[in-house]
Amino acid sequence: MSTATEIKVSGVDPYEIVIGRALLGEVAKGLGDKVKKVLVVHPVALTASAELLRETLVEAGFEAILAGVPDSEDAKRVEVAAFCWGIMGKSDFTRSDAVVGFGGGSTTDMAGFVAATWLRGVKLIQVPTTLLGMVDAAIGGKTGINTSEGKNLVGAFHAPAKVIIDLDTLQSLARNEILAGFGEVVKYGFIADPVILDLIEKDVTSATDPNSPVFQDIVQRCVAIKARVVGEDFKEAGLREILNYGHTLGHAIEHAERYKWRHGAAISIGMVFVAELARLGGRLGDAAVDRHRSVLGLLGLPTTYSADKWNQLVETMQRDKKSRSGNLRFVVLDDIAKPTIMSAPTPEMLFAAFQEIVEG
Ligand SMILES: NC(=O)c1ccc[n+]([C@@H]2O[C@H](COP(=O)([O-])OP(=O)(O)OC[C@H]3O[C@@H](n4cnc5c(N)ncnc54)[C@H](O)[C@@H]3O)[C@@H](O)[C@H]2O)c1
Repeated sequence: MSTATEIKVSGVDPYEIVIGRALLGEVAKGLGDKVKKVLVVHPVALTASAELLRETLVEAGFEAILAGVPDSEDAKRVEVAAFCWGIMGKSDFTRSDAVVGFGGGSTTDMAGFVAATWLRGVKLIQVPTTLLGMVDAAIGGKTGINTSEGKNLVGAFHAPAKVIIDLDTLQSLARNEILAGFGEVVKYGFIADPVILDLIEKDVTSATDPNSPVFQDIVQRCVAIKARVVGEDFKEAGLREILNYGHTLGHAIEHAERYKWRHGAAISIGMVFVAELARLGGRLGDAAVDRHRSVLGLLGLPTTYSADKWNQLVETMQRDKKSRSGNLRFVVLDDIAKPTIMSAPTPEMLFAAFQEIVEG
């Protein structure tokens, strides 16, 4: 085992995030003495590696059961939760048993939801296997499923007991999924840690190679930021909002594209948009705005969008605003690593910022 790093998340239910390689054996150690049964929730596509994880748990003395769930957003349906509850019921899972989420963000969201709801909450260990899952979804205790009315409408805050980030699991992940995960990575660079941007700019090939030490360094930096933010603001009462940098327009783009786009691509455009908004508001200089385009461009992430969708995007952002019963608010930068909130910008300013990102 190469050296693993541990990052602590503080709060009412503190926990550790372990980052390294060849770490699947750590899952059993994280379960503790009281747990007897473990439900490993994984996408069917990862059955072979989930089976390896199950074997390590059985060797450690647990009764481990696999729950293969559909791929991606198809996992986040109440029918799939019911499937998992069914397995737990038939296997007599008690309050002191546990759930392991092994997969991308959609799997860890579903596994977390099942853990939060079974007998009003059982132990959860998250083992993310996508870059997005590692730097974002598996940390922070937000769990949820979709309904026909929208994404993530049903869920609970349920902190994991441990998060195990085994970078070796990324070996099988498609390159475009890794690059899409870099949308969130760049976000952390702009809101909190510009060294992340430096590392990408210095050598984008190493920075995006899951086998390289610089990749591990980048993941650790991102995890440290998310851990600090959710440790201070578990239930999204304040600070956690900075994590939404680029997300207001990004979510509207995902909606306009009927969720066929990768999240990272949508927030990539969203970040350039808010950078332009901050520039127009006299907050952010030209060089910092240009840096958004150049670093995202290096990663092959999009930075422009089609002009004819503006009205639809505004409508979606307004609807989103209503559901939060507040002003249209954007996380913007006063400078790199200095996030702040811009509340209720004028329609003219929003449109002007959008003009800066239209394609062609
Ligand atoms: N709870 C949170 O705080 C939070 C934060 C951000 C995103 N999310 C959620 O995360 C989800 C998106 O997560 P995602 O981008 O990881 O996508 P995903 O979970 O849909 O996974 C993407 C694809 O990669 C496959 N896959 C996963 N790991 C693999 C591996 N190691 N090798 C090969 N294939 C692998 C999956 O089967 C899937 O096809 C969304 O539902 C979003 O709402 C949650």
